[in-house]
Amino acid sequence: MKNIRIAIDGPSGAGKSTIARHIAGTLGILYLDTGAMYRAVALKVLRSGISLADAAAIARMMKDTRIDVEYRDDSQHILLDGEDVSGEIRSNEVSMGASAVSAHLAVRERLVSLQQDIARRSGVVMDGRDIGTKVLPNADVKIFLVASPEVRAQRRFLELQEKGLLDKTYEALLEEIRVRDRNDSSRTHSPLLQAEDAVLLDTTGFSLKEATDAVMALIEARKD
Ligand code: DC
Repeated sequence: MKNIRIAIDGPSGAGKSTIARHIAGTLGILYLDTGAMYRAVALKVLRSGISLADAAAIARMMKDTRIDVEYRDDSQHILLDGEDVSGEIRSNEVSMGASAVSAHLAVRERLVSLQQDIARRSGVVMDGRDIGTKVLPNADVKIFLVASPEVRAQRRFLELQEKGLLDKTYEALLEEIRVRDRNDSSRTHSPLLQAEDAVLLDTTGFSLKEATDAVMALIEARKD
């Protein structure tokens, strides 16, 4: 199991990161949240005032950008040009920005290659949008995790409420999820797509614990 490579893809809010983190802990392998890398690029674009739609300027910026992933205190830290931006990349503005910058080929090529380097070093569970189709096409287990937009918005609402960070209505969160789904699924380069050999898991009626157990059962069944 130590060398297993697991790909978990799906739309935002399907529970990918919580489940993937838990599985990595249980199996003693690395967890890579690939969305955090796109978020770090978006943060740099937003800070520098470049338009999120300006593919040429963003491609130039990428030549001069360093993204590193470090593991400390049991969690993943994202370094943008040496600065730990793990907290700052969680804002709403960065979420929407990441969905936009991830459409640019120069961004994808660079980050996919970094992700593949990390997967060469050890067993890993990665979550994202293109892990099963592009980053790890030969992954040992591929899972495509979905849930209805309403349930995903509800989960996000409760999560923000719990953290004391709730600053919008449920309806506004639902609309954001729909916009990101549309962006992520309709872009030309590596759109959100279920790999042919991925198992589809719909967690709409599941608690997080039930969803995690279901993913773990799929991994157990596939490991030989
Ligand atoms: O998983 P997340 O919500 O943190 O991802 C942020 C954005 O990054 C998401 O809207 C789409 C993009 N992304 C991607 O295109 N490919 C990935 N492998 C991971 C994320």
